[in-house]
Amino acid sequence: MSAPKRILVTGAGGFIGHHLVKRLRADGHWVRGVDIKAPEYEASDANEFLLRDLREYENCAAAVGGGIDQVYNLAADMGGIGFITAFHADVARNNTLINVHMLEAARQARVSRFLFSSSACVYAQSKQTDADVTPLREEDAYPAEPEAGYGWEKLYAEELCKYYREDHRLDTRMVRFHNVYGPLGTYDGGREKAPAAISRKVALAENGGTIDIWGDGKQTRSFMYIDDCVEGLLRIMASDFLQALNLGNDHLVTIDELVDLTCRIAGKTLKKTHDLSKPQGVRGRNSDNRLARRILGWEPTFPLEKGLAITYPWIENELVKTGKLRAPKAVHAD
Ligand SMILES: NC(=O)c1ccc[n+]([C@@H]2O[C@H](COP(=O)([O-])OP(=O)(O)OC[C@H]3O[C@@H](n4cnc5c(N)ncnc54)[C@H](O)[C@@H]3O)[C@@H](O)[C@H]2O)c1
Repeated sequence: MSAPKRILVTGAGGFIGHHLVKRLRADGHWVRGVDIKAPEYEASDANEFLLRDLREYENCAAAVGGGIDQVYNLAADMGGIGFITAFHADVARNNTLINVHMLEAARQARVSRFLFSSSACVYAQSKQTDADVTPLREEDAYPAEPEAGYGWEKLYAEELCKYYREDHRLDTRMVRFHNVYGPLGTYDGGREKAPAAISRKVALAENGGTIDIWGDGKQTRSFMYIDDCVEGLLRIMASDFLQALNLGNDHLVTIDELVDLTCRIAGKTLKKTHDLSKPQGVRGRNSDNRLARRILGWEPTFPLEKGLAITYPWIENELVKTGKLRAPKAVHAD
Protein backbone atom coordinates (compact mmCIF):
# COMPACT_ATOMS: atom_id res chain seq x y z
CA MET A 1 0.00 0.00 0.00
CA SER A 2 1.18 3.56 -0.78
CA ALA A 3 1.79 6.11 2.03
CA PRO A 4 -1.48 7.65 3.29
CA LYS A 5 -2.55 10.66 1.25
CA ARG A 6 -5.24 13.33 1.33
CA ILE A 7 -7.43 12.53 -1.65
CA LEU A 8 -10.38 14.28 -3.27
CA VAL A 9 -12.94 12.25 -5.20
CA THR A 10 -15.42 14.32 -7.21
CA GLY A 11 -18.60 12.51 -8.21
CA ALA A 12 -18.34 10.61 -4.90
CA GLY A 13 -22.13 10.45 -4.75
CA GLY A 14 -22.11 8.46 -8.00
CA PHE A 15 -21.47 4.85 -8.86
CA ILE A 16 -17.71 4.67 -9.52
CA GLY A 17 -16.84 7.48 -7.10
CA HIS A 18 -18.66 5.79 -4.22
CA HIS A 19 -16.81 2.50 -4.75
CA LEU A 20 -13.49 4.32 -5.16
CA VAL A 21 -13.96 6.19 -1.86
CA LYS A 22 -14.55 2.85 -0.09
CA ARG A 23 -11.36 1.38 -1.53
CA LEU A 24 -9.23 4.46 -0.75
CA ARG A 25 -10.48 4.49 2.84
CA ALA A 26 -9.82 0.77 3.20
CA ASP A 27 -6.29 1.45 1.93
CA GLY A 28 -5.79 3.96 4.76
CA HIS A 29 -6.11 7.32 2.94
CA TRP A 30 -7.94 10.43 4.12
CA VAL A 31 -10.71 11.08 1.61
CA ARG A 32 -12.96 14.02 0.82
CA GLY A 33 -15.94 13.26 -1.39
CA VAL A 34 -17.75 15.99 -3.30
CA ASP A 35 -20.94 15.72 -5.31
CA ILE A 36 -24.10 17.64 -6.09
CA LYS A 37 -25.99 14.75 -4.43
CA ALA A 38 -25.32 12.22 -1.67
CA PRO A 39 -24.84 8.54 -2.62
CA GLU A 40 -28.23 6.99 -3.35
CA TYR A 41 -28.01 3.56 -1.80
CA GLU A 42 -25.71 3.75 1.23
CA ALA A 43 -23.74 6.38 3.18
CA SER A 44 -20.33 7.45 1.92
CA ASP A 45 -17.19 6.18 3.67
CA ALA A 46 -15.48 9.53 3.01
CA ASN A 47 -13.91 11.33 5.99
CA GLU A 48 -15.66 14.43 4.73
CA PHE A 49 -18.48 14.71 2.19
CA LEU A 50 -19.33 18.10 0.66
CA LEU A 51 -22.54 18.73 -1.25
CA ARG A 52 -21.45 21.20 -3.94
CA ASP A 53 -22.22 22.07 -7.54
CA LEU A 54 -18.87 21.79 -9.31
CA ARG A 55 -20.01 23.85 -12.27
CA GLU A 56 -19.18 26.84 -10.01
CA TYR A 57 -15.50 27.73 -9.72
CA GLU A 58 -15.64 28.67 -6.02
CA ASN A 59 -17.04 25.22 -5.18
CA CYS A 60 -14.16 23.57 -7.04
CA ALA A 61 -11.72 25.77 -5.10
CA ALA A 62 -13.37 24.69 -1.81
CA ALA A 63 -13.21 21.05 -2.90
CA VAL A 64 -9.43 21.12 -3.38
CA GLY A 65 -8.80 23.34 -0.33
CA GLY A 66 -6.91 22.33 2.82
CA GLY A 67 -4.00 20.49 1.24
CA ILE A 68 -5.22 17.83 -1.16
CA ASP A 69 -2.53 15.56 -2.69
CA GLN A 70 -4.51 13.82 -5.39
CA VAL A 71 -7.76 14.44 -7.24
CA TYR A 72 -9.87 11.78 -8.93
CA ASN A 73 -12.20 13.91 -11.05
CA LEU A 74 -15.19 11.65 -11.70
CA ALA A 75 -18.06 14.16 -11.49
CA ALA A 76 -20.03 14.34 -14.72
CA ASP A 77 -23.55 14.77 -16.01
CA MET A 78 -23.94 11.39 -17.68
CA GLY A 79 -26.07 8.34 -18.30
CA GLY A 80 -26.65 5.53 -20.78
CA ILE A 81 -27.09 5.97 -24.51
CA GLY A 82 -30.71 7.18 -24.19
CA PHE A 83 -29.61 9.99 -21.87
CA ILE A 84 -26.46 11.20 -23.61
CA THR A 85 -28.12 11.27 -27.03
CA ALA A 86 -31.13 13.23 -25.71
CA PHE A 87 -29.26 16.07 -23.96
CA HIS A 88 -26.25 17.17 -26.03
CA ALA A 89 -26.24 20.82 -24.96
CA ASP A 90 -26.76 20.33 -21.21
CA VAL A 91 -24.34 17.42 -20.94
CA ALA A 92 -21.61 19.23 -22.89
CA ARG A 93 -22.11 22.50 -21.02
CA ASN A 94 -22.27 20.98 -17.52
CA ASN A 95 -19.24 18.75 -18.03
CA THR A 96 -17.21 21.52 -19.67
CA LEU A 97 -17.81 23.75 -16.65
CA ILE A 98 -16.94 21.00 -14.15
CA ASN A 99 -13.71 20.01 -15.93
CA VAL A 100 -12.46 23.51 -16.76
CA HIS A 101 -13.03 24.69 -13.19
CA MET A 102 -11.66 21.56 -11.52
CA LEU A 103 -8.44 21.73 -13.54
CA GLU A 104 -7.91 25.39 -12.72
CA ALA A 105 -8.76 24.91 -9.02
CA ALA A 106 -6.34 21.95 -8.82
CA ARG A 107 -3.60 24.02 -10.42
CA GLN A 108 -4.19 26.93 -8.03
CA ALA A 109 -4.17 24.56 -5.04
CA ARG A 110 -0.97 22.88 -6.34
CA VAL A 111 -2.33 19.35 -6.05
CA SER A 112 0.34 16.85 -6.94
CA ARG A 113 -1.73 14.67 -9.29
CA PHE A 114 -5.07 15.01 -11.12
CA LEU A 115 -6.87 12.10 -12.77
CA PHE A 116 -9.54 12.79 -15.37
CA SER A 117 -12.22 10.19 -16.14
CA SER A 118 -12.69 10.11 -19.89
CA SER A 119 -14.72 7.62 -21.88
CA ALA A 120 -14.69 5.20 -24.81
CA CYS A 121 -17.22 7.68 -26.29
CA VAL A 122 -14.19 9.71 -27.47
CA TYR A 123 -13.40 7.09 -30.14
CA ALA A 124 -14.07 7.80 -33.81
CA GLN A 125 -17.58 6.66 -34.72
CA SER A 126 -16.49 5.38 -38.14
CA LYS A 127 -14.24 2.79 -36.42
CA GLN A 128 -17.26 1.28 -34.62
CA THR A 129 -19.68 0.50 -37.46
CA ASP A 130 -19.34 -3.31 -37.36
CA ALA A 131 -20.65 -5.57 -34.57
CA ASP A 132 -17.49 -7.65 -35.07
CA VAL A 133 -15.49 -4.55 -34.18
CA THR A 134 -11.69 -4.31 -34.10
CA PRO A 135 -10.90 -3.42 -30.47
CA LEU A 136 -10.15 0.28 -30.07
CA ARG A 137 -6.56 1.33 -29.55
CA GLU A 138 -5.79 4.60 -27.84
CA GLU A 139 -4.76 6.29 -31.11
CA ASP A 140 -8.19 5.52 -32.63
CA ALA A 141 -9.58 8.69 -31.01
CA TYR A 142 -8.00 10.63 -33.89
CA PRO A 143 -8.84 11.95 -36.45
CA ALA A 144 -11.54 13.16 -34.04
CA GLU A 145 -15.08 11.96 -34.67
CA PRO A 146 -16.41 11.22 -31.17
CA GLU A 147 -19.97 10.74 -29.84
CA ALA A 148 -21.92 14.03 -30.15
CA GLY A 149 -22.04 16.15 -26.98
CA TYR A 150 -20.69 13.85 -24.26
CA GLY A 151 -17.84 12.37 -26.35
CA TRP A 152 -16.69 15.72 -27.78
CA GLU A 153 -16.56 17.19 -24.30
CA LYS A 154 -14.51 14.26 -22.95
CA LEU A 155 -12.04 14.54 -25.84
CA TYR A 156 -11.69 18.27 -25.34
CA ALA A 157 -11.15 17.82 -21.58
CA GLU A 158 -8.39 15.29 -22.35
CA GLU A 159 -6.72 18.00 -24.44
CA LEU A 160 -7.13 20.46 -21.58
CA CYS A 161 -5.43 17.99 -19.21
CA LYS A 162 -2.54 17.85 -21.65
CA TYR A 163 -2.31 21.67 -21.90
CA TYR A 164 -2.39 22.03 -18.09
CA ARG A 165 0.42 19.51 -17.80
CA GLU A 166 2.52 21.16 -20.51
CA ASP A 167 1.88 24.80 -19.62
CA HIS A 168 1.24 24.66 -15.85
CA ARG A 169 2.99 21.43 -14.80
CA LEU A 170 -0.19 20.00 -13.34
CA ASP A 171 0.57 16.26 -13.31
CA THR A 172 -2.49 14.80 -15.10
CA ARG A 173 -3.62 11.23 -15.81
CA MET A 174 -6.43 10.26 -18.21
CA VAL A 175 -8.57 7.12 -18.11
CA ARG A 176 -10.94 6.03 -20.88
CA PHE A 177 -13.57 3.82 -19.22
CA HIS A 178 -15.45 1.21 -21.23
CA ASN A 179 -18.94 0.37 -19.77
CA VAL A 180 -18.66 -0.16 -16.03
CA TYR A 181 -21.32 -2.12 -14.11
CA GLY A 182 -21.89 -3.56 -10.64
CA PRO A 183 -23.93 -3.14 -7.45
CA LEU A 184 -24.82 0.40 -6.31
CA GLY A 185 -25.05 1.64 -9.91
CA THR A 186 -28.11 3.53 -11.19
CA TYR A 187 -30.65 0.99 -12.43
CA ASP A 188 -33.67 3.14 -13.35
CA GLY A 189 -34.79 6.72 -13.96
CA GLY A 190 -33.22 7.18 -17.43
CA ARG A 191 -29.48 7.38 -16.61
CA GLU A 192 -28.93 3.63 -16.25
CA LYS A 193 -26.73 1.69 -18.64
CA ALA A 194 -27.39 -1.57 -20.48
CA PRO A 195 -26.45 -4.20 -17.81
CA ALA A 196 -28.48 -2.41 -15.11
CA ALA A 197 -31.44 -1.69 -17.42
CA ILE A 198 -31.52 -5.31 -18.60
CA SER A 199 -31.26 -6.65 -15.04
CA ARG A 200 -34.16 -4.43 -14.01
CA LYS A 201 -36.30 -5.53 -16.96
CA VAL A 202 -35.53 -9.20 -16.36
CA ALA A 203 -36.32 -8.86 -12.65
CA LEU A 204 -39.67 -7.16 -13.38
CA ALA A 205 -40.72 -9.63 -16.11
CA GLU A 206 -42.84 -12.68 -15.32
CA ASN A 207 -41.12 -15.94 -16.16
CA GLY A 208 -42.29 -16.88 -19.69
CA GLY A 209 -43.07 -13.23 -20.52
CA THR A 210 -41.32 -10.79 -22.86
CA ILE A 211 -38.40 -8.37 -22.57
CA ASP A 212 -38.09 -5.23 -24.67
CA ILE A 213 -34.56 -4.59 -26.01
CA TRP A 214 -33.22 -1.39 -27.58
CA GLY A 215 -31.98 -2.02 -31.14
CA ASP A 216 -31.78 -5.40 -32.87
CA GLY A 217 -29.77 -6.96 -30.03
CA LYS A 218 -26.83 -7.74 -32.30
CA GLN A 219 -24.88 -4.63 -31.32
CA THR A 220 -21.78 -5.53 -29.29
CA ARG A 221 -20.07 -4.16 -26.18
CA SER A 222 -17.65 -5.19 -23.45
CA PHE A 223 -18.44 -4.70 -19.77
CA MET A 224 -16.05 -4.06 -16.87
CA TYR A 225 -16.96 -5.06 -13.33
CA ILE A 226 -16.64 -2.25 -10.77
CA ASP A 227 -13.84 -3.91 -8.74
CA ASP A 228 -11.63 -4.01 -11.85
CA CYS A 229 -12.51 -0.38 -12.55
CA VAL A 230 -11.40 0.76 -9.09
CA GLU A 231 -8.20 -1.33 -9.26
CA GLY A 232 -7.38 0.17 -12.66
CA LEU A 233 -8.00 3.72 -11.41
CA LEU A 234 -5.49 3.25 -8.59
CA ARG A 235 -2.93 1.73 -10.95
CA ILE A 236 -3.26 4.50 -13.54
CA MET A 237 -3.05 7.20 -10.86
CA ALA A 238 0.16 5.57 -9.55
CA SER A 239 1.67 5.09 -13.03
CA ASP A 240 3.99 7.44 -14.91
CA PHE A 241 1.91 7.18 -18.07
CA LEU A 242 0.82 10.62 -19.31
CA GLN A 243 -1.46 9.78 -22.27
CA ALA A 244 -5.07 8.60 -22.16
CA LEU A 245 -5.32 4.88 -21.41
CA ASN A 246 -8.15 2.39 -22.00
CA LEU A 247 -9.68 0.86 -18.89
CA GLY A 248 -12.09 -1.85 -19.96
CA ASN A 249 -12.70 -5.57 -20.19
CA ASP A 250 -12.07 -6.91 -23.71
CA HIS A 251 -14.60 -9.75 -23.66
CA LEU A 252 -17.10 -8.79 -26.38
CA VAL A 253 -20.79 -9.81 -26.20
CA THR A 254 -23.93 -8.90 -28.12
CA ILE A 255 -26.74 -7.25 -26.20
CA ASP A 256 -28.85 -10.37 -26.86
CA GLU A 257 -26.13 -12.47 -25.20
CA LEU A 258 -26.14 -10.08 -22.24
CA VAL A 259 -29.90 -10.60 -21.95
CA ASP A 260 -29.55 -14.40 -22.16
CA LEU A 261 -26.89 -14.38 -19.47
CA THR A 262 -29.04 -12.25 -17.18
CA CYS A 263 -32.04 -14.52 -17.76
CA ARG A 264 -29.96 -17.57 -16.85
CA ILE A 265 -28.85 -15.93 -13.60
CA ALA A 266 -32.47 -14.98 -12.83
CA GLY A 267 -33.67 -18.50 -13.69
CA LYS A 268 -36.18 -17.06 -16.22
CA THR A 269 -37.08 -17.74 -19.83
CA LEU A 270 -38.14 -14.57 -21.66
CA LYS A 271 -39.06 -13.82 -25.26
CA LYS A 272 -37.05 -10.90 -26.67
CA THR A 273 -38.74 -8.13 -28.60
CA HIS A 274 -36.46 -5.62 -30.35
CA ASP A 275 -37.36 -1.94 -30.57
CA LEU A 276 -35.50 -0.47 -33.54
CA SER A 277 -36.79 3.05 -32.82
CA LYS A 278 -34.65 3.30 -29.66
CA PRO A 279 -31.02 4.55 -29.72
CA GLN A 280 -28.43 1.78 -29.73
CA GLY A 281 -25.21 3.83 -30.03
CA VAL A 282 -22.31 2.58 -32.11
CA ARG A 283 -22.68 -0.87 -33.69
CA GLY A 284 -19.77 -2.43 -31.87
CA ARG A 285 -17.21 -1.31 -29.28
CA ASN A 286 -14.40 -3.12 -27.54
CA SER A 287 -11.27 -2.17 -25.62
CA ASP A 288 -7.80 -2.98 -26.94
CA ASN A 289 -5.81 -3.67 -23.77
CA ARG A 290 -2.32 -4.07 -25.19
CA LEU A 291 -1.13 -0.69 -23.93
CA ALA A 292 -2.80 -1.16 -20.53
CA ARG A 293 -1.10 -4.56 -20.13
CA ARG A 294 2.27 -3.01 -20.97
CA ILE A 295 1.88 0.06 -18.75
CA LEU A 296 0.03 -1.44 -15.79
CA GLY A 297 1.16 -5.06 -16.00
CA TRP A 298 -2.51 -5.85 -15.54
CA GLU A 299 -5.93 -5.63 -17.23
CA PRO A 300 -9.57 -6.06 -16.18
CA THR A 301 -10.58 -9.72 -16.37
CA PHE A 302 -13.47 -10.14 -13.90
CA PRO A 303 -15.85 -12.48 -15.82
CA LEU A 304 -19.17 -11.02 -16.93
CA GLU A 305 -21.11 -14.07 -15.64
CA LYS A 306 -19.59 -13.58 -12.19
CA GLY A 307 -20.16 -9.82 -12.15
CA LEU A 308 -23.78 -10.16 -13.28
CA ALA A 309 -24.37 -12.89 -10.71
CA ILE A 310 -23.55 -10.22 -8.07
CA THR A 311 -25.22 -7.26 -9.80
CA TYR A 312 -28.55 -8.89 -10.75
CA PRO A 313 -29.52 -9.93 -7.18
CA TRP A 314 -28.57 -6.48 -5.92
CA ILE A 315 -30.93 -4.80 -8.43
CA GLU A 316 -33.68 -7.35 -7.77
CA ASN A 317 -33.36 -6.70 -4.05
CA GLU A 318 -33.52 -2.91 -4.58
CA LEU A 319 -36.73 -3.36 -6.59
CA VAL A 320 -38.22 -5.40 -3.74
CA LYS A 321 -37.08 -2.83 -1.13
CA THR A 322 -38.67 0.02 -3.07
CA GLY A 323 -41.95 -1.88 -3.52
CA LYS A 324 -41.63 -2.23 -7.32
CA LEU A 325 -41.34 -6.00 -7.14
CA ARG A 326 -42.75 -8.70 -4.85
CA ALA A 327 -40.02 -10.83 -3.24
CA PRO A 328 -39.27 -13.54 -5.84
CA LYS A 329 -39.77 -17.19 -4.89
CA ALA A 330 -37.39 -18.54 -7.54
CA VAL A 331 -33.90 -19.62 -6.50
CA HIS A 332 -31.19 -18.07 -8.67
CA ALA A 333 -29.19 -20.34 -10.89
CA ASP A 334 -25.40 -20.11 -10.39
N1 LIG B 1 -20.02 4.13 -15.72
C1 LIG B 1 -19.48 4.01 -16.93
O1 LIG B 1 -19.68 3.01 -17.63
C2 LIG B 1 -18.61 5.12 -17.50
C3 LIG B 1 -18.14 4.97 -18.82
C4 LIG B 1 -17.35 5.98 -19.33
C5 LIG B 1 -17.02 7.08 -18.57
N2 LIG B 1 -17.50 7.19 -17.30
C6 LIG B 1 -17.14 8.40 -16.53
O2 LIG B 1 -16.80 8.02 -15.20
C7 LIG B 1 -17.20 9.04 -14.29
C8 LIG B 1 -18.07 8.44 -13.19
O3 LIG B 1 -19.18 7.79 -13.79
P1 LIG B 1 -20.30 7.03 -12.96
O4 LIG B 1 -20.68 5.83 -13.73
O5 LIG B 1 -19.90 6.89 -11.56
O6 LIG B 1 -21.49 8.05 -13.10
P2 LIG B 1 -22.51 8.63 -11.99
O7 LIG B 1 -23.53 9.40 -12.74
O8 LIG B 1 -22.96 7.53 -11.10
O9 LIG B 1 -21.56 9.59 -11.16
C9 LIG B 1 -21.27 10.91 -11.56
C10 LIG B 1 -21.53 11.80 -10.39
O10 LIG B 1 -21.23 13.16 -10.76
C11 LIG B 1 -22.14 13.98 -10.07
N3 LIG B 1 -22.30 15.31 -10.67
C12 LIG B 1 -22.92 15.62 -11.83
N4 LIG B 1 -22.95 16.95 -11.99
C13 LIG B 1 -22.33 17.49 -10.92
C14 LIG B 1 -22.06 18.82 -10.51
N5 LIG B 1 -22.44 19.87 -11.25
N6 LIG B 1 -21.42 19.02 -9.34
C15 LIG B 1 -21.03 17.97 -8.56
N7 LIG B 1 -21.27 16.67 -8.90
C16 LIG B 1 -21.91 16.44 -10.07
C17 LIG B 1 -23.45 13.22 -10.13
O11 LIG B 1 -24.35 13.69 -9.13
C18 LIG B 1 -23.00 11.80 -9.94
O12 LIG B 1 -23.12 11.39 -8.59
C19 LIG B 1 -17.90 10.10 -15.12
O13 LIG B 1 -16.98 11.13 -15.43
C20 LIG B 1 -18.29 9.37 -16.38
O14 LIG B 1 -18.40 10.24 -17.49
C21 LIG B 1 -18.29 6.24 -16.74
